Amino acid sequence: MTVGAARARRKATIMADRPAGNKPQQDVENTSPPRPCCAGAVLRKTLSILRRLFTFRLGTVVIYRHVELRSLTCPAEVRPVNEESIEDALAMDDAGRVENLRRAVGRGERAYFAYSGGKVVHRSLVQSGPGKAICELRVSFDLAEGEGYVHHSKTAPAMRGRGIYPAVLSRIAQDWRQRGRRLFIATVEANEASMRGIEKAGFKLARRVASLVWFGRCILQKDLKVKQ
Ligand SMILES: CC(C)(COP(=O)(O)OP(=O)(O)OC[C@H]1O[C@@H](n2cnc3c(N)ncnc32)[C@H](O)[C@@H]1OP(=O)(O)O)[C@@H](O)C(=O)NCCC(=O)NCCS
Repeated sequence: MTVGAARARRKATIMADRPAGNKPQQDVENTSPPRPCCAGAVLRKTLSILRRLFTFRLGTVVIYRHVELRSLTCPAEVRPVNEESIEDALAMDDAGRVENLRRAVGRGERAYFAYSGGKVVHRSLVQSGPGKAICELRVSFDLAEGEGYVHHSKTAPAMRGRGIYPAVLSRIAQDWRQRGRRLFIATVEANEASMRGIEKAGFKLARRVASLVWFGRCILQKDLKVKQ
């Protein structure tokens, strides 16, 4: 057999082994998923970085300290949260947020729910010092041993304006008073609903802090005069 005839025979054998459509066998057997096109992801990430690069957030955070115990009532029952009751928050939060709540409780934070008609209609978390309290606009302040910082408070939209938030805060303040340590809460000055609720619960304005946030970080934090 000549060299040319041998080549022709080998080629014919290979072609016969190929499946219909004349595709090479290795393509058919390659069952691994197609490689994702990463160009879109890279573009999205780049745009997100550029957006953050040119986004500045400026605002004032108000930090309150609890000074006066008030006994407040509301149309909901306030209860401290335990491992079993965390899932009750699904009535007003999605699974991701409930998971965050579980993690916070797992690292020693205290949580409170307010129930109405058997459903959670408010949640608040309390971080206990020592540590750093991180407020909105990335403003931070130090918490001494045993001091508390109330955060992540939310009332279900349908139940707002009924005094549930101040009632929860005053319950938390009662519990903290027994520990004999200071209790703080903060919000942005633009959040009037929150400020009103905080003041009704016996908190007093302690600090006003201007903050400039860039790229998710507070790059300037300055204490302002406290209006009395
Ligand atoms: C701030 C918030 C927790 C207040 O909860 P709440 O249980 O409605 O508190 P209150 O009933 O004391 O209402 C507080 C103020 O909210 C405003 N408010 C009243 N009805 C409202 C409604 N239907 N929707 C929104 N705000 C209302 C009023 O200004 C009220 O003060 P007033 O009664 O002296 O007029 C709630 O609005 C909320 O969850 N907001 C979104 C999350 C948030 O901002 N959390 C606070 C972060 S620190």
